[in-house]
Amino acid sequence: MTTYLVTGGAGFIGSNFVRHLLTSEPDCRVVNLDKLTYAGNLGNLADLAENTRYRFVEGDICDRDLLEVLFTKEQFSAVVHFAAESHVDRSIHGPAEFIQTNIIGTFALLETARKYFESGQNQNFRFLHVSTDEVYGSLGETGLFSETTPYDPHSPYSASKASSDHLVSAYFHTYGLPTLMTNCSNNYGPYQFPEKLIPLIINNALQGKELPVYGDGKNVRDWLYVVDHCQAILTVLKSGRLGETYNVGGNSEKQNIEVVHTICDILDEVASPLPDNSSRRSLIRFVTDRPGHDRRYAIDASKIKNELGWEPTVDFSGGIRETVEWYLTNPEWVEAILSGSYRDYYDKMYKDR
Ligand code: NAD
Ligand code: TYD
Repeated sequence: MTTYLVTGGAGFIGSNFVRHLLTSEPDCRVVNLDKLTYAGNLGNLADLAENTRYRFVEGDICDRDLLEVLFTKEQFSAVVHFAAESHVDRSIHGPAEFIQTNIIGTFALLETARKYFESGQNQNFRFLHVSTDEVYGSLGETGLFSETTPYDPHSPYSASKASSDHLVSAYFHTYGLPTLMTNCSNNYGPYQFPEKLIPLIINNALQGKELPVYGDGKNVRDWLYVVDHCQAILTVLKSGRLGETYNVGGNSEKQNIEVVHTICDILDEVASPLPDNSSRRSLIRFVTDRPGHDRRYAIDASKIKNELGWEPTVDFSGGIRETVEWYLTNPEWVEAILSGSYRDYYDKMYKDR
């Protein structure tokens, strides 16, 4: 039986991926190693608690002893590495954890995987590192990020991810570790923590709270529905060429303000009206910009399409509607998330903006 190690599987993309993997491969087992930081939530995988092909391990990817025990016991066929500190704004206020988990943690995982691979326990072993398009920096009005675009990260988050990408690449070239890498654009969909633009706007708009738009709202992101990202990762894991990087994107560039307008309009249509009957667009507030805010991201995903046949299946208008409906129909999940430390985070980040 194939056994996968998924790191960070209690987070947004990781939890969607664990579910996708167990559904796509009826014979596999999945071990989910997650530290359960503020972003990790076992509620994201509550439906799998009884699944005998799924095992959750609470732990830190920086813990080499734990990693060695897990590799020896579970004899992994592949690692899919999501675990990271993932939010740009948090990295600006507190970069240390980004260095620790994203760089030191990835190094610990690579070292353990290298020892395991070199011991000959599994010759077909694969290590897939999940990364971001933010490592390429910022685009002007035109152009796309390709796999050969030079790295030029601008935030502590993207710099720490860039660093981990270089380590992964070094382990392929130096030690022959069978690595693969995906650099993906912005994801959206169910189970995303409401510090990120789309779920934050959905939740604030539902509660009639102000909708903070950074700067002039014209920064552009290339949005991809999370399940399409999961499918891309699985495709690369199965068929990607070792040592290669594949850019993954949604062909769906939107200015932030367009995204916010779309969410407001869907909620005006499907949710209870605001107490004063005004449109949710009236809640929009342009606030102080993020320092070093990248202007535009856009992905050239032709390599993964031409080599591996992957392309997105969910367009933004369908995906965003499904996402809004998911948040509407899962109020318990949202309430659990919005309690406690999230409030402190929100006040710190937005109060004086
Ligand atoms: P997330 O913040 O929702 O989840 C991260 C998960 O990692 C959490 O469950 C957290 O508990 C866990 N984690 C953090 N530190 C850990 C540690 N030291 N040991 C073990 N577990 C730890 O993030 P996400 O949005 O799901 O992103 C997952 C991965 O995908 C990240 O590597 C991110 O860089 C990458 N990525 C994200 C996006 C996006 O739009 N969200 C786009 C491209 C790439
Ligand atoms: P985010 O979801 O944090 O992803 P990233 O910074 O990794 O692209 O932000 C997406 C875009 O939305 C980005 O340009 C910043 C902007 N943004 C706002 O305008 N307001 C907000 O409250 C947040 C969280 C983000």
